[in-house]
Amino acid sequence: MLPLLTERLAIRPYDPDDAVQMHEVVYRDPETMRLIGGAKTYDETVRIARRYAEDHIRDGYAFWVVEERETGLIVGEAGLHPFDGRGPEVELGYAFGSGHWGRGFATEAGRAILAEAFGDLGLERVVAVTRDENLASRAVLEKLGFTQEGRRTAWGCDQPFFVAVRPD
Ligand SMILES: CC(C)(COP(=O)(O)OP(=O)(O)OC[C@H]1O[C@@H](n2cnc3c(N)ncnc32)[C@H](O)[C@@H]1OP(=O)(O)O)[C@@H](O)C(=O)NCCC(=O)NCCS
Repeated sequence: MLPLLTERLAIRPYDPDDAVQMHEVVYRDPETMRLIGGAKTYDETVRIARRYAEDHIRDGYAFWVVEERETGLIVGEAGLHPFDGRGPEVELGYAFGSGHWGRGFATEAGRAILAEAFGDLGLERVVAVTRDENLASRAVLEKLGFTQEGRRTAWGCDQPFFVAVRPD
């Protein structure tokens, strides 16, 4: 049940108004967006924020806003969506502003999101993909207990494919 609260983070559904801050922190940042489709225009970010807000209402999961509890500021986004945009598997994803990397935020958020996926959302497995060169994301997935199961084409490219299964 959202919000998900961790030691340092609050994870909550998108509100369309989040577009302004999320654009500054994540979507306009070429470094953050380098391996995930490139920086977006503000109008694109507005559409994304609206879509994620709607996805959550419709499906009960989506990409969510991640705030640092101490400051109340948005530091990134993380959440679940249909694998490759089409499902049926459910995929974990995350992106943090480059100024916030290396503090364990992706791992901390990912852990809480997996607990929600295997708990309230009742999922048996969660999948993930990451580009070969995205060693930080691979490290996060491994810390979260994902294991690689070959490769899949997703989001327009062939990528290592990872699976996490619900603990007994
Ligand atoms: C990938 C990303 C989410 C990681 O966020 P983060 O909050 O810095 O992640 P964490 O601090 O929880 O963990 C990062 C791990 O990667 C490791 N790492 C970072 N850069 C690395 C590199 N170049 N090579 C190997 N490992 C690396 C860190 O050492 C850390 O592991 P450790 O805790 O064992 O030391 C962040 O870099 C990001 O937002 N990138 C842009 C968007 C993106 O690529 N999203 C994922 C798409 S699949």
